[in-house]
Amino acid sequence: MYILGIESSCDETAASIVENGRIIASNIVYSQVEEHGLYGGVVPEIASRRHIDAISEVVQKCFDEAKMTVNDVDAIACTFAPGLIGALLVGLNFAKGLSYASGKPLVPVHHLRGHIAALYLTYPELKPPFICLVASGGHSHIVAVDDYTKFRVIGHTIDDAAGEAFDKVSRTLGLGYPGGPAIAKAALSGDDKKYKLPTPHTENKYDVSFSGLKTAVINIYNTNNMKGEKTDINSLAASFQEKIAQILSENLSNAAKEFGYDKVAIAGGVSANKRLRQLIEEKIENREFFAPYMELCGDNAAMIASRGYYEFINGRRGNIELNGIASLNIDFD
Ligand code: KG4
Ligand code: ZN
Repeated sequence: MYILGIESSCDETAASIVENGRIIASNIVYSQVEEHGLYGGVVPEIASRRHIDAISEVVQKCFDEAKMTVNDVDAIACTFAPGLIGALLVGLNFAKGLSYASGKPLVPVHHLRGHIAALYLTYPELKPPFICLVASGGHSHIVAVDDYTKFRVIGHTIDDAAGEAFDKVSRTLGLGYPGGPAIAKAALSGDDKKYKLPTPHTENKYDVSFSGLKTAVINIYNTNNMKGEKTDINSLAASFQEKIAQILSENLSNAAKEFGYDKVAIAGGVSANKRLRQLIEEKIENREFFAPYMELCGDNAAMIASRGYYEFINGRRGNIELNGIASLNIDFD
């Protein structure tokens, strides 16, 4: 069974065809990151406009690369939530039009469920149950994946997401956007013990809070500036990355132990972070560890097509009335 996936929830316009949820036939990603970089972060209005410019060509390229037409796919899966509403609507309206014109069923996909499905593309043998940290620009969840369509949230961020904290700190330190890769690169030549940063506390031990940590880093930088002192940017980046990676890896490994999961996974843009991967592997002892291919950590449509396959065989359908939703829990059904 072949599923076409379409993704436009943030700053990537993407289309992909995936066979039986596991094998990529084609995968096209058009990234707007350079343009948003000029402004230090995603500008929603620009994102929507660029999606409109790109969507037809991206989908056509996807069919061309797979040597297929819309007649060869069994369904059209599209991200409908969560995300920037104007951006989401571009992919969604395109998918609705294509579905209506071709008669192929439309399958709504939750973006974070999509990130988790990147693991199915990386490990064709991986099956639930497993526990997964989903960390992206907008979310930092620990999710128990008990079956392909059964999700339980164990913890989430109570303020900033991990990726958001990376992006904001990076902007302040003048390292650019997106912040995650920029901070990771700077951290390579820094001393991660040089700056003492606070460990945030939350009521639910599996929730996280990164707003105070982010502010602490920004305060160090600003205070040094006011005193005319130079900040060791690489070491501040390293100390910040280390703190976030320690918190996320500790929470995930504790949750795996407490809730009895032998398989531990990460997904989402932040899962590309090498220090985070390393610390999780160290902390989970002899449990199995799963992380997506680097190119499938960030937003792409292969993960949406994979996710769409599991939603499709479970009976989920959308129709012409389907709307985009800016904010929606991963366990919405
Ligand atoms: O999943 P994603 O591509 O988009 C959203 O759904 O938000 O995640 C993007 C986020 C950005 O905040 C970016 O800075 C972060 O993922 N990111 C990283 C790394 N690569 C991307 N964070 C830490 N380390 C990285 N290597
Ligand atoms: Zn994402």
